[in-house]
Amino acid sequence: MGLLLPLALCTLVLCCGARSPPQPVLNPWALLSRGCNDSDVLAVADFALRDINKDRKDGYVLSLNRVNDAQEHSQDGLGSLFYLTLDVLETDCHVLSKKAWRVCGMTPFYQSVYGQCKAIFYINKPSRVLYLAAYNCTLRPVSKRKIHRTCPDCPAPISTDLSSDQVLEAATESLAKYNNESTSKQYSLFKVTRASSQWVFGPSYFVEYLIKESPCTKSQISSCSLQSSDSVPAGLCKGSLTRRHWEKFVSVTCDFFESQAPAAGNENSAVNQKPINLSKVEESQQKNTPPTDSPSKAGPRGSVQYLPDLDDKNSQEKDPQEAFPVHLDLTTNPQGETLDLSFLFLEPMEKKVVVLPFPREKAHTAECPGPAQDASPLVLPP
Ligand SMILES: *[C@@H]1O[C@H](CO)[C@@H](O)[C@H](O)[C@H]1NC(C)=O
Ligand SMILES: *[C@@H]1O[C@H](CO)[C@@H](O)[C@H](O)[C@H]1NC(C)=O
Ligand SMILES: *[C@@H]1O[C@H](CO)[C@@H](O)[C@H](O)[C@H]1NC(C)=O
Ligand SMILES: *[C@@H]1O[C@H](CO)[C@@H](O)[C@H](O)[C@H]1NC(C)=O
Repeated sequence: MGLLLPLALCTLVLCCGARSPPQPVLNPWALLSRGCNDSDVLAVADFALRDINKDRKDGYVLSLNRVNDAQEHSQDGLGSLFYLTLDVLETDCHVLSKKAWRVCGMTPFYQSVYGQCKAIFYINKPSRVLYLAAYNCTLRPVSKRKIHRTCPDCPAPISTDLSSDQVLEAATESLAKYNNESTSKQYSLFKVTRASSQWVFGPSYFVEYLIKESPCTKSQISSCSLQSSDSVPAGLCKGSLTRRHWEKFVSVTCDFFESQAPAAGNENSAVNQKPINLSKVEESQQKNTPPTDSPSKAGPRGSVQYLPDLDDKNSQEKDPQEAFPVHLDLTTNPQGETLDLSFLFLEPMEKKVVVLPFPREKAHTAECPGPAQDASPLVLPP
């Protein structure tokens, strides 16, 4: 064994010196290309995306548009690691709502935000373990120019930056209406998350924003100077402000998140180390509620990167392959590295799997990418 590794490295150096781009030296049987419409691949993609959404603190829940690529690395009786490339779309649920992506509504096409996620997902059916080891996503808004061409009158997304007076005004006026109609609790603006404008019978602004609970009650509101101490968003509001001559029309609806307080024992590491009960997951999948106890390691396991619209002048991507750059490498060693997943198992035995660099080449199978929920070229990464 001691001799094998240096030998393998020599071969690698030789091959890389001679050819570019470098090809990782892999056991050609290590990675199995999977069909992107296979039911078990779709199930793994679903679990992975739920865990991605659960891990995030910011932004909208992502839904699966299609599986772009799937490769499986079977781990000698210790389950499998999947290398997934998923084409995703933003929904209208905020991640803090903790709603499962399947129950969320889609945004209208002129407001779509779409992109790609890569995920490394571990599944061990006999031990009933599911684990998102890592993920990264890159998202872009749909091309403004293309939307304008097909729908010149559609609302146009605008920056959620509060320096835009109209956006701020639409948010504060619609929230004031909500507070006025609320019987006791009062809310204040936390963050604007989406904004768009359109000419209706006058200029109209549509906003979505997070709110937090204000410490003041309605009876105190005019004299209240209490500062809110906890800054946890309590819900998401959708508001609009339209003007016609001197008249103003304001609308608002708010959705409150389920209590943000951690459920008893949820943050407890002993609980986190319990494997997921797969039948529970399947049950909750049918009920469309998130599974209750998934193991989670401290800290986020990935991030979501937002880039400008592809037609934006600041975003001239020359290579369409690079339009949605997503890097996800737990190792750069082409031989792979061991990943200790013992904490996922109840038995006090060491369980290590081999993780490889994320496959550069997509599998060239006729079955990938799989069928898309929304096959519009506007929202499919090239
Ligand atoms: C607040 O609500 C009352 C009735 O519920 C209404 O008469 C009043 O105009 C509202 N004020 C604002 C600023 O919307
Ligand atoms: C998994 O959950 C099901 C239903 O909640 C339960 O019947 C079963 O005993 C559980 N299995 C384990 C291993 O905890
Ligand atoms: C995920 O992306 C970020 C930023 O693009 C990068 O710094 C990080 O290394 C990536 N994570 C992995 C595991 O590759
Ligand atoms: C994908 O799988 C489903 C169910 O197995 C099947 O009905 C459908 O025709 C498949 N689609 C494609 C494009 O292969």
